[in-house]
Amino acid sequence: MPIINRIAEFQADMTAWRRDIHAHPETAFEEHRTSEVIAAKLAEFGLEVHRGLAGTGVVGTLQGSRPGGRAIGLRADIDALHIHEKNEFEHASRHEGRMHACGHDGHTTMLLGAARYLAETRNFAGKVHFIFQPAEENEGGARRMIEDGLFSKFPVEAVFGMHNWPGLPPGTFAVRPGPMMASFDIFEIGITGKGAHAAMPHEGVDPVVIAAQVVGALQTIVSRNAHPLESAVVSVTQIHGGDTWNVIPDEVVLRGTTRAFKPEIQDLVERRMREIAENICAAHGAKMSWRYERRYPPTINTERETETAAAVLAEIVGSENVRRDVLPSMGSEDFAFMLQKKPGSYVWIGNGGSANLHNPGYDFNDEILPIGASYWARLVERVLGG
Ligand code: NI
Repeated sequence: MPIINRIAEFQADMTAWRRDIHAHPETAFEEHRTSEVIAAKLAEFGLEVHRGLAGTGVVGTLQGSRPGGRAIGLRADIDALHIHEKNEFEHASRHEGRMHACGHDGHTTMLLGAARYLAETRNFAGKVHFIFQPAEENEGGARRMIEDGLFSKFPVEAVFGMHNWPGLPPGTFAVRPGPMMASFDIFEIGITGKGAHAAMPHEGVDPVVIAAQVVGALQTIVSRNAHPLESAVVSVTQIHGGDTWNVIPDEVVLRGTTRAFKPEIQDLVERRMREIAENICAAHGAKMSWRYERRYPPTINTERETETAAAVLAEIVGSENVRRDVLPSMGSEDFAFMLQKKPGSYVWIGNGGSANLHNPGYDFNDEILPIGASYWARLVERVLGG
């Protein structure tokens, strides 16, 4: 069974909603207009609307036509990025310096489309909670919603997520059990030496030379400390130090990010980074300051829910268009916090050959709106079909 006909009928509406949201991007916890738009549509469709979780979060609840005590959650992220849009089409961002460059406008719209269809048909037993989550980018809105009582106010047996994926053709999906996205941690290493005249380095302790050794040595964690078949990334993305040609500075600061799929690898990376930086600094008589923060855990799909999701996807686009063998991404996703609490599955929907995510030339592909909305609708009918 391919795309649901009734959903295909409101493709023009969905395209208009998506472009309106795209034109009015709002970033983490400031999605006030977006939240209004979502709440108004859900109310219009006949859902019960709950607002205020994580500030701008919205949860729409829909009761099936048949009784039942079961419930599932479907989640879309609603926030945009601090990027200046380069596109010049009519629905390009009207908010200077902000842009829907990750397709969360499309995610929001697909979930709204499914809500509209399911509110008309209600061909399921129990409840669906449509979770519209703010601040996926950087700020962990999913965690905030959970802390604000998401799963105690709206108990669910499983939770499902979806992200568009440029490079995967439209009409295809990808999903796998286990890790789908990596953890996201950040670090800051301060190296304090002793400034000196650049012509008299023997009178100082040069933090630039020490920083260079630290950056190089950090790369041995992945190549020499982690098991060769495990995955990790250590990326130093900033080096700050010095002001002029002929002065050795007092201090250099390194910052960056690390990625992994397993908590024990995260622990290993954190521990080895600190040991390496501390001991290289000590060897040269410099002092080290250390900051390491765990931002997002890895996104881990549970086996059973992933099989269910894959079976529904195969109904929509055919099993040959459901990639089961993709490599997980070293990118990250705060839906991970929801999957720490509940079983569930996070799938990628092919967005086609657009610019990549977080690129100023990116746009969500409106062609796939009914495909994604049909997945959500059929998933509900299958899981709560009893
Ligand atoms: Ni995203």
